[in-house]
Amino acid sequence: MLDLLVTDVRTPDGREVDIGVVGDRVVALGAVSRQAAEQARRVVQGGGLLVSPPFVDAHFHLDAALTLGRPRLNASGTLLEGIALWAEQKPSLTEEDIAARALRLIAWAAARGTLAMRSHVDTCDPALRAARALVEVRRRVAPFFDLQLVAFPQDGYLRHPRGVELLSEALDLGVDVVGGIPHFERTAQAGRESVERLCRLAADRGLRVDMHCDENDDPQSRHVEVLAEQAVRFGLQGRVTASHVTSLHSAPNDYAFKLLPLLAEAGVHVVANPLINITLQGRQDSYPKRRGMTRAPELMAAGVNVSFGHDCVMDPWYALGSADLLEVAHMGLHVAQLTSLAGMRACFDAVTVNPARALGLEGWALAEGGRADFVLLHARDPVEALRLRAARRLVVSRGRVVAEGPAPAMLLTLPGEAPRAVDFLGDAGR
Ligand code: FE2
Repeated sequence: MLDLLVTDVRTPDGREVDIGVVGDRVVALGAVSRQAAEQARRVVQGGGLLVSPPFVDAHFHLDAALTLGRPRLNASGTLLEGIALWAEQKPSLTEEDIAARALRLIAWAAARGTLAMRSHVDTCDPALRAARALVEVRRRVAPFFDLQLVAFPQDGYLRHPRGVELLSEALDLGVDVVGGIPHFERTAQAGRESVERLCRLAADRGLRVDMHCDENDDPQSRHVEVLAEQAVRFGLQGRVTASHVTSLHSAPNDYAFKLLPLLAEAGVHVVANPLINITLQGRQDSYPKRRGMTRAPELMAAGVNVSFGHDCVMDPWYALGSADLLEVAHMGLHVAQLTSLAGMRACFDAVTVNPARALGLEGWALAEGGRADFVLLHARDPVEALRLRAARRLVVSRGRVVAEGPAPAMLLTLPGEAPRAVDFLGDAGR
């Protein structure tokens, strides 16, 4: 007997299916018999809506989320003022406060269909409060949410007086991934050394790597090429992610087009963070102002796996955000001008299957026999989901409905007319 049956839904590639769930598994993906439908414990009428693999946030900072205004707002809007504000409030943080904010943020994310996240954890705190708090949060949410943690030396692996030992201690506590911030080390040479040492550490411990890399507007910032080189050197192909890489926006074309195949060859995943990159980058420009987001279309064309992450929600770097990866993908589409049909589809993949690959999550596509994790969206295909930043009708994690909402038709009342429902699924072009 089916525990859950969702009828008449469309997959991102356009297949019309019913989804039958028993326990935490999809047991049927296709037409379900009338008898099975009648006996199902719960039936949800899909009405032709889009069913998608859950969203995956490839880049976030849970420890800083929801601290907006502590100790004051970021007046310059720059990355560096954000880092300074974060450093000011760090000594006053408690594990309880970090955990409470992280759990709240994860609840927001899950309600919007995100069921996996990679969060960086600042390790430049002698008490490692964020690492301790988030390892416990990871355990608490594990029944419905895949949380990966990255040991992130915010104040510099080599620049912070205890950066090296604290990062290793965080890994000993159970943090999953080795992070870094080479462009924030004191010199380019120190940045290179940090990349080499951190890749060696990851290889020795059998861990993945995810570094904030070249997050600036400097056309000469070249740490990502070192990361690709070291990925190959230590046999880490496919296990290394370069986050942000905004300098590539400003790099000369000659250099950029030499670099792209090197990243593909080394199997380096790239994560852009459109909401944050479009607000933090180009701050020292007059006009024209650079957008600053990395070269997403060119990376994709070169065969690099590109994802879009949320990065921040209401923290010292970004006052907005709602834990909605459709908002992130919508911004990424605009900033990167990925407006072709293939480009728009690629933006949807950049918040679903691509980040699942970067995180090494198995079986993220909806499949018979696979884990019953999916999102039903009030849209008929991925492009419509992006256009509408579609309402989430149903979020299912391991066979359990963890969030559901009504169809977003609204009642419009105009002078002299009877009220009528307005549904934003228009018929144009269909
Ligand atoms: Fe970040």
